[in-house]
Amino acid sequence: MDALAAMQQRRSARVFLKKPVSRALVEEVLACAGLAPSAINLQPWEYVITYGEEKERLTRRIIQAHGELKVSCGPGTASPLPERYANRSRGASQGLKPHIAALGSDFNRFIEEGSCSFYGAPIAIIVVIDKLFPHLRYLDVGLSVAYLLLAAEAKGLATCPIGLVTAYSDEIADVLSIPKEKEILLAIALGYADEKSPINIFKTKREPLTEIISWYE
Ligand SMILES: Cc1cc2nc3c(=O)[nH]c(=O)nc-3n(C[C@H](O)[C@H](O)[C@H](O)COP(=O)(O)O)c2cc1C
Repeated sequence: MDALAAMQQRRSARVFLKKPVSRALVEEVLACAGLAPSAINLQPWEYVITYGEEKERLTRRIIQAHGELKVSCGPGTASPLPERYANRSRGASQGLKPHIAALGSDFNRFIEEGSCSFYGAPIAIIVVIDKLFPHLRYLDVGLSVAYLLLAAEAKGLATCPIGLVTAYSDEIADVLSIPKEKEILLAIALGYADEKSPINIFKTKREPLTEIISWYE
């Protein structure tokens, strides 16, 4: 699969098969994440990968913390959002709602509880940066994450970036012994998508180019 096809096909999956992913395949995808460009080649990204019993232990701890705190959106999301941004977000949730309702679950509960359990994916990846870096370097990590998502797509794997769980960074750091010098930026669910689930088939829309670019000549 070429890069353009991976970009066009990729979507976030929220229903995963129980099928395991081989360590060799995970390493191939992570090697691609490491190919991203970064300012003066600092490569400030770090990935903590959990699977099996360790992933289950992490999930139990996040679910417990969520039961106590009940965060409904990940840190860094302004609320209320200006209308033009709120519309984009509404578009995504309206499209998913009927498919989630068909499972007998409401949208918020499905997203929150699903995020906390990495949507049942066999692999949960925690994306970390050393706190010594300024916020501009988070951009480099974002580029690497994009490479990761696209490489996974090209390898027939599915992903869902999960920001919500960073509300439980203290718990994640504790379970995975992530030192306090590191900041947890994102989690990524990785596995094989249930291709038949309408939740996974739904594709979010994007703004027309006129909304996101300005030309000057
Ligand atoms: C930084 C970031 C955080 C996200 N956090 C969550 C999350 O906590 N839960 C979730 O279900 N999806 C989450 N997503 C997935 C977005 O909802 C999704 O990317 C967006 O709706 C566009 O859909 P697509 O990925 O299918 O193209 C996140 C995506 C990004 C990039």
